[in-house]
Amino acid sequence: MPDQPLLDVAREGAVCVLTLRREEKLNAISTALERELLSALAGPAVRESRCVVFAGGARAFSAGADLVEPRDESPEGIAAYYGDTGDVYERVAALPQPTVSAIAGWCLGAGLELALATDFRIADTTAVFGLPEVELGIVPSSGGTQRLVRLLGPARAKELMLLRPRVDAEEALRLGLVTEVAAERRALPRAVEVAERIASLPPLAASYAKQAADALAEASREAGILVERLAYAALAQTETARAAGRAFSERSRPSE
Ligand code: COA
Repeated sequence: MPDQPLLDVAREGAVCVLTLRREEKLNAISTALERELLSALAGPAVRESRCVVFAGGARAFSAGADLVEPRDESPEGIAAYYGDTGDVYERVAALPQPTVSAIAGWCLGAGLELALATDFRIADTTAVFGLPEVELGIVPSSGGTQRLVRLLGPARAKELMLLRPRVDAEEALRLGLVTEVAAERRALPRAVEVAERIASLPPLAASYAKQAADALAEASREAGILVERLAYAALAQTETARAAGRAFSERSRPSE
């Protein structure tokens, strides 16, 4: 682990904020940064939180994979990378609690793929999105091709990968790439506000709602419906659900 941490982990109540701290390199994602992310995801600040916010700096959420770091690009080396830190994007997507990205400045390549692995993307007006991989002779390979197609549909996903090197925040909102655009420097405060709202929800219900939505996108409609029904069957047993049901029926019970 380097002397200077590349990731800041801050817990504010039930919200955990993970901030990439490699600003002098526009938060280029090195394997060391991926390793710190992996270790944060397994740590108590994330595990005990009800919502996780991913943030970068003012100049960049992240300018993508570290293009300078020497990498073993043999098929074996690449397979080893996915077995080691390259799986972090899948781990982010698989977090049981909802997640939000707060995006200012550059959000390119693997930086965008990290944001795509979260549930909500809140940009400020300085955000610029792009997937430069194809121009570099490769493809987005941290889940980006899959998540982009599911989010935008194949035509828009291909448009982003092949034809649109840069997309500004308003265009990203129009395309559905981001869920919201905030004023300059307001992406993080707004993301924390959204995260606090999510954190105030019954946590198990919020988590199952997220997981049912993700399962439906990944599986057949029948399998997704089954997940939804099983989640309901499990949640209906909880004291939170029983108390909410009781409170409502007591309030609305007709007086006799
Ligand atoms: N990997 C490694 N280092 C990166 C990087 C990346 N993806 N993106 C930026 N950096 C570093 C630069 O090398 C520079 O370091 P230095 O000051 O030690 O020279 C520093 O971050 C600042 O970047 P710089 O290029 O000087 O900033 P800029 O404002 O002129 O340009 C970009 C910004 C985003 C247009 C430009 O940095 C860029 O094209 N980066 C690569 C983007 C990319 O292709 N990402 C996808 C990878 S698959």
